Amino acid sequence: MALIIAVDGPAAAGKGTLAKALAAKLGLPHLDTGLLYRAVGRKMILCGLDPAVDDGAAVAAALEPGDLQRTDLRVPEIDQAASNVATQPAVRAALLQRQRDFAKALGGVIDGRDIGTVVFPDAPVKLFVTASARTRALRRHAQLHGDAPLSDEELVRLTSEITERDRKDASRAVSPLRCADDAVRIDTDCLNSAEVLEHALKIVGAR
Ligand code: DC
Repeated sequence: MALIIAVDGPAAAGKGTLAKALAAKLGLPHLDTGLLYRAVGRKMILCGLDPAVDDGAAVAAALEPGDLQRTDLRVPEIDQAASNVATQPAVRAALLQRQRDFAKALGGVIDGRDIGTVVFPDAPVKLFVTASARTRALRRHAQLHGDAPLSDEELVRLTSEITERDRKDASRAVSPLRCADDAVRIDTDCLNSAEVLEHALKIVGAR
């Protein structure tokens, strides 16, 4: 059977970077499932729908590959929209098979929030990547603005935004963010991306 590696964790913990690097190293396809929720949120806004209130299932079912390849999916407005549509059971259901189909032929490294718990509960390797809210806020700033200076107020604002998104992701009724019982936790607070990859490769090798 094709190898599936589930990589879950909260926002900006480094799971995307790890998943991409693991996929490249192991020659596996990579799917960032957050992009699916982001693309649904963006398309709803474009259609004049409110992702916090309106049903996004039809939009989710009609997503096309081009919707996922946009560069404007990682802006703050879409952070919120994605987090809102991700609470809708019908949206999650509409995206489930698409995620499973992605890895059908060749396996893959799949990153998200519910990959090890819901999408691929039988994945032979499950990683749960975490870091403190402060570290993740600093990383989020670097992702968005590179080396630009970060004021104390901005750091506080980013940290509370991330904490709020964690709360929402972890407290929703369907597929909440949760570390699977058989996942290995990787705390990335004190590790750089090369060290995280090295650690993850050891875990993959041991399974
Ligand atoms: O990983 P990200 O920040 O791009 O994810 C965007 C939103 O989508 C986030 O609020 C959580 C949600 N999400 C989810 O509920 N399940 C997934 N498998 C991936 C993302």
